[in-house]
Amino acid sequence: MEPIKVGLLGLGTVGSGTFKVLNRNQEEIRRRAGRGIEITRIAVRNVARARAIAGNAVEVGNDPFALVDDPALDIIVETVGGTGLARELVLRALRNGKHVVTANKALLALHGTEIFEAASASGVMVAFEAAVAGGIPIIKALREGLTANRIEWIAGIINGTTNFILSEMRERGVDFATALADAQRLGYAEADPTFDIEGVDAAHKVTIMSAIAFGVPMQFEHAYIEGISGLHAVDIKYAEELGYRIKLLGIARRAEQGIELRVHPTLIPSKRLLANVEGAMNAVLVHGDAVGATLYYGKGAGAEPTASAVVADLVDVTRLHTADPEHRVPHLAFQPDSLSSTPILPITEVHSGYYLRLRVADVTGVLADITKILAQGGISIDALLQKESHTVNQQGRPDGETDIILITHVTVEKNINAAITQIEALSTVVSTVVKLRMEALS
Ligand code: NDP
Ligand code: HSE
Repeated sequence: MEPIKVGLLGLGTVGSGTFKVLNRNQEEIRRRAGRGIEITRIAVRNVARARAIAGNAVEVGNDPFALVDDPALDIIVETVGGTGLARELVLRALRNGKHVVTANKALLALHGTEIFEAASASGVMVAFEAAVAGGIPIIKALREGLTANRIEWIAGIINGTTNFILSEMRERGVDFATALADAQRLGYAEADPTFDIEGVDAAHKVTIMSAIAFGVPMQFEHAYIEGISGLHAVDIKYAEELGYRIKLLGIARRAEQGIELRVHPTLIPSKRLLANVEGAMNAVLVHGDAVGATLYYGKGAGAEPTASAVVADLVDVTRLHTADPEHRVPHLAFQPDSLSSTPILPITEVHSGYYLRLRVADVTGVLADITKILAQGGISIDALLQKESHTVNQQGRPDGETDIILITHVTVEKNINAAITQIEALSTVVSTVVKLRMEALS
């Protein structure tokens, strides 16, 4: 059989990784897919640079629209990134009757509904394994491997850049800016790295996973997002002392009143496997009612790990190319007419344990005032750490201030917020309260 013809949009980190892996393993891939898979055309901005990577056997140009309109191509791989040009190209490719493989989580989290509808209307597939957790086949696991389960929750380290930064800071004492520059040099970071640092990239990914896990539409606009830029080194240190590690987690959880969809720095008990995922590695913990907890671990970013997922999608699409569209696995695991309207909960309705750090005047009764407020709010304390006062004022004398760190049992966020407002009003509390969420992951 003739090889299936692929057009590649973009030849950057992911595009060039895909080109390389597909060529290196082409014989194995052909045996698995049942026919060859050949990239015959590439579109980029810098044609000379792309020719140097791809050689002369492939047609290289700088008109991505001409590529998606090329009748000789069966599959378009989109590795351009962003949500403007990429959306136009993907929709045009689908309307032209071509299957699409994409690594673009931003595009799917924001425009997934429109894109999947366009694919269904044309009877073609959109495959996106590379969009979540790089080389880890988490989409396949959620959509197919765990399909018997009612999925209860997902918690994952799904951004390699931030996990790399947190690891470098904690293990090697590297400062934030240097660690970020290294992540960029290694090809982990997004074109705009604020997407990584501020938790937006992780929110794109957890939005996609929540849709597949719970059978709801993509609702990125309702996700709660907090990144790592506001995290203080002192909290990483205190967390360690209390037996926790701080990770940027993406969490999707079925609750009584709706779905929790959130990304934020989270304290995890340091004995948990997830707490020990370091560097650019990703890990996703999925809890299903039948299977219990399952854990998926691997490289979440970079050229070849991501290419591993893109090429797997190419093989899948090639195998199913001639299958009846009715018999393909639905894009979001659930049949499109069976999606539910379960709401995404606002962050104030989320249940969590909390880490609170307070700077207080080291005077009698301060702790009693604080614990009284928490008790009145129905919040119970799990652990408490009071640091000795070592800080000094401008004259070099002890300033009589100290840090108190409180760990609470699980409570609803609006209650903790109300208690913090009262605590900050105490004359003995000298700075704003630092609040971090905690997950036992048990
Ligand atoms: P890069 O910036 O490395 O590559 C982007 C490519 O797109 C470049 O080859 C660039 O061309 C091309 N491109 C950009 N604009 C145009 C245009 N107007 N016309 C033609 N070509 C264009 O990005 P990445 O490979 O890192 O990321 C690509 C996608 O994959 C993104 O959606 C990202 O979120 C996702 N992703 C990235 C991962 C990673 O580890 N990097 C992992 C998982 C997903 P030129 O080279 O000429 O500038
Ligand atoms: N910027 C992303 C990350 C790339 O750091 O995880 C992989 O999606």
